[in-house]
Amino acid sequence: MSKIRLALSAFLLLSFAGAALAQSDPTLAATPPMGWNSWNHFAERVNDADVRAAADYMVSSGMKAAGYEYVNIDDTWEGQRDAQGFIHPNSKFPDMKALADYVHSKGLKLGIYSSPGPKTCAGYPGSYGHEQQDADTYAKWGIDYLKYDLCSFIPAVMQKEAPHDRDKQFQLMQAAYEKMHQALVATGRPIVFSLCQYGWDHVWTWGASVGGNLWRTTGDIEDNYNRMSEIGFNQFGLARYAGPGHWNDPDMLEVGNGGMTFDEYKTHMSLWAILAAPLLAGNDLSKMTPETISILTNKEVIAVDQDPLGKQGDRASASGSTEIWTRPLSNGALAAGLFNRDTEPHEITLNLSDVGFSGNPTLRDLWTHQDVTATNGSYTVTVPPHGVVMLKVSQ
Ligand code: GLA
Repeated sequence: MSKIRLALSAFLLLSFAGAALAQSDPTLAATPPMGWNSWNHFAERVNDADVRAAADYMVSSGMKAAGYEYVNIDDTWEGQRDAQGFIHPNSKFPDMKALADYVHSKGLKLGIYSSPGPKTCAGYPGSYGHEQQDADTYAKWGIDYLKYDLCSFIPAVMQKEAPHDRDKQFQLMQAAYEKMHQALVATGRPIVFSLCQYGWDHVWTWGASVGGNLWRTTGDIEDNYNRMSEIGFNQFGLARYAGPGHWNDPDMLEVGNGGMTFDEYKTHMSLWAILAAPLLAGNDLSKMTPETISILTNKEVIAVDQDPLGKQGDRASASGSTEIWTRPLSNGALAAGLFNRDTEPHEITLNLSDVGFSGNPTLRDLWTHQDVTATNGSYTVTVPPHGVVMLKVSQ
């Protein structure tokens, strides 16, 4: 065998070995995870009682019945490490195992948060140097989901160990995610692995190969239309990287937090469903208006998000301030979001032949919950400012 062929076989062998070792688990998060996360509303203030209340209200509001499952504690639960290096929660979370038991008793799952760096984004202890110990601790408590947030790993490891070498920095970052993935796998407990590194280094091209079940594609969302729409409408082109067990994550929902109108929150929910995004509510579930509940529990929109085909949607066309996004669904159906990004109402027309339909397909409006009628192969509707009309087209 020539030297070149030898090198090539060695390379292929290593790549396959790597691929076999490092892959997201498609039985976890077969559809995008649904649940709640403490950060958008509670931020640093979250405590045990808030998380229990979130679990209670997830059930009593009908969210659990609509598919929400994970109750996720974000940053600021972390206390000190003991003499053996095991992490303990701080005084806001007196007994993490008891909390997990409580959440499980409601038929729900509990998620937690850490960082590959020595500190989390809010300055609490991260997992650096304690990855297996932390994974074992999470498994012992009964944790079902880990959000792993880059933060201090950037200055403490990437910039320190490879100050002027971006390629090396990204290798260090990927290795850190792979390390925690292996630690989670070694526990034997199924734990959804959520990568949070703000979309750096085209994470959608390698997130699944380091075991990610989902990966943030952007910086942090905020509870206002400008930021939400900037993030959401910038997700075009990423559809082919998502699928069962590995999803693009344009960040958590802000629905119900008060900074957007009813129409703007419907846009948020519709766009996230077309994007096959995780649906992690970020509001106070104990104080929801009927409007908020109606958005978060719209089963027809959720069915788009959770469609078993697992294909993410994408932008089909844009004209001025209006955009049509479509998502292929199982049984040959299609979801179509007719979005108006302007502050004035606009008419938007969906030409059925443009999206692959002929004859007389059924058109269903997923917010009014009524069938609507196409005329001469198209459907025209007035869409309110910052609003959406979301349709399901089926033959
Ligand atoms: C980062 C993440 C947020 C949140 C905070 C917590 O900003 O992107 O989603 O987890 O850290 O400190």
